[in-house]
Amino acid sequence: MAQLGVNIDHVATLRQARRTYEPDPVYAAYIAEMAGADLITVHLREDRRHIQERDLRLLRQTVSTRLNLELSCEPEVVAIACELRPEQATLVPERREEVTTEGGLDVCSDPQRVQRAVEALRAAGMEVSLFIDPAAEQVRQAAQLHAESVELHTGSYALARGCAQQDELSRLVDAGALAVSLGLKLHAGHGLNYHNVQPVAKIEHMNELNIGHSIVARAVFVGFQQAVQEMKRLITIA
Ligand code: PXP
Repeated sequence: MAQLGVNIDHVATLRQARRTYEPDPVYAAYIAEMAGADLITVHLREDRRHIQERDLRLLRQTVSTRLNLELSCEPEVVAIACELRPEQATLVPERREEVTTEGGLDVCSDPQRVQRAVEALRAAGMEVSLFIDPAAEQVRQAAQLHAESVELHTGSYALARGCAQQDELSRLVDAGALAVSLGLKLHAGHGLNYHNVQPVAKIEHMNELNIGHSIVARAVFVGFQQAVQEMKRLITIA
């Protein structure tokens, strides 16, 4: 059964809207863990639009499951990761003007840059995951870079409808099978919600799903604890 990584970035987004102290993502992480999250995921963006270094330092001390840090290959954030050593580091692409992470990290276009980050993170003791599009060449290159896992970008699947969504699911299944055959652990995430999560959770050898926006959005109406519990249940019964 896939583990649920609860991404709490958007709890921090709400706090940063007023540059205040609430709601605190550290408190959200605690509630998420109590509600069944298997890991807590945060993205320390270069522009610090939501998660701050203060959050990361506190989460490092308080998260009792596993902490998964999403970060770009920029040496500045890689150095912070190496200092704080969360259990897992997920390398993602980053463009300042984007609303959210659009597309996977292109590990084929500049493999040396990714390699440097992977080596530094692994040397500091982290498991490294690469957030990539579900494409065979990306998966093969990720294996060559000695990452432990790949997180397949589910954004296109989440946006597609009808037959097109089935095609996107097939791409995820094929890329996932290739990843596992190459010895990689399989993760997925982006755009997953209460309606579309189950087919992805059912993919063979799916090990971890990272989900943020839909859980935080639902939490506005039902509370954070219930929102996490409902997502956990959907994954469990998938
Ligand atoms: N996985 C990765 C690598 C991401 O960058 C994000 C977005 O921060 C997510 C998962 C979660 O996506 P969403 O907020 O759409 O659930």
